[in-house]
Amino acid sequence: EKGGYAHFMLKEIHEQPTAIKTTITPRIVDGMPNLEECGLTYDRLKGYNNIFVVACGTAMHAGLVGKYVLEKIGRIPVTVDMASEFRYRDPIIAKGDLVILVSQSGETADTLAALRMAKERGAETLSIVNVKGSSIARESDMVLYTHAGPEISVASTKAYIVQLSVFYLLSFAIAYAHGAISKEECMRLTAELQNVPNMLEVVLKTPDNCQYVASQLVNKENLLYIGRGLDYALSMEGSLKLKEISYIHSESYAAGELKHGTISLVTNNMPVIAVATQRELLDKTISNVKEVKARGAYVVLVTHGYINVDDEVADYKIGLPTIDDLLMPMLTVVPLQLIAYYTSVLRGNDVDKPRNLAKSVTVE
Ligand code: M6R
Repeated sequence: EKGGYAHFMLKEIHEQPTAIKTTITPRIVDGMPNLEECGLTYDRLKGYNNIFVVACGTAMHAGLVGKYVLEKIGRIPVTVDMASEFRYRDPIIAKGDLVILVSQSGETADTLAALRMAKERGAETLSIVNVKGSSIARESDMVLYTHAGPEISVASTKAYIVQLSVFYLLSFAIAYAHGAISKEECMRLTAELQNVPNMLEVVLKTPDNCQYVASQLVNKENLLYIGRGLDYALSMEGSLKLKEISYIHSESYAAGELKHGTISLVTNNMPVIAVATQRELLDKTISNVKEVKARGAYVVLVTHGYINVDDEVADYKIGLPTIDDLLMPMLTVVPLQLIAYYTSVLRGNDVDKPRNLAKSVTVE
């Protein structure tokens, strides 16, 4: 049942290229995103001027990437909330707003309650859900299913990447519908997204660099992930994955915020995983990396393969293939998943069933 893999998590990490293809291919027609299956015509997409994304855990992290992409190219304000906060903060949502619920299981109690509240307040609701016929899928006005197939490992991997792929299609479509990008640009970005599965196959062929990093983390009790912009959103997912299955404490920090307190945690040989794929922010992130390095941190830099870094900047580099920076999270997440996976294996943990956690959180 694990298809020759040692754990479901590793199997599911390897299923990601296929899961993306299955999720996006039927939704691309003549090179353009097409979401009409759930009623999201370009006309309808044009009408949304305010978007909320509500979810928990990994699904919420997918929403953070979605926000960044939607705002960057669509120029539409997007608010991301954890469902357990959204429900109780009396959010200002009104008729005409779009509330997007993201959930692998479609049964997460807080996300379901947030959906019901959004409907009561007259918003339109769209869910991005993996499990067919689940409560969230049934109760939302529109559904865009992710086609990851069953995800068994408690630590979510392929569900996250397909949630991202749906956010990309939705963002390209909304940006085009609002006239924020041209048809050519929309087609170019869509074609880039279609390239992701093949590029991921390449990334998945060389896990040894992640195994090496795991061997450096295995005996640590604390580490930091840092990044800016999309890399920050992504590093939150990397940090959650590591915490969840390796039980090593880690925090994800916006690189520019370090010097406002967190850098005092950095001591000799503390690992810092710096994610720096956004080239317009590269110099800024590198200067933060130098700051932690100067305080003795052991720095792993995750960036484009062609970017050269000298020893004063990083102790180890994980190089990724290059696509449009906007789409880099689709590639970058994989080494972060693998680092978490191998660290958990090396620590002898129950990778697929981490302590205290359930796959589907149906209680509040
Ligand atoms: O089924 P859902 O996507 O609604 O679940 C949300 C979270 O409970 C889930 O993503 C959790 O954070 C994962 N265990 C993370 O790997």
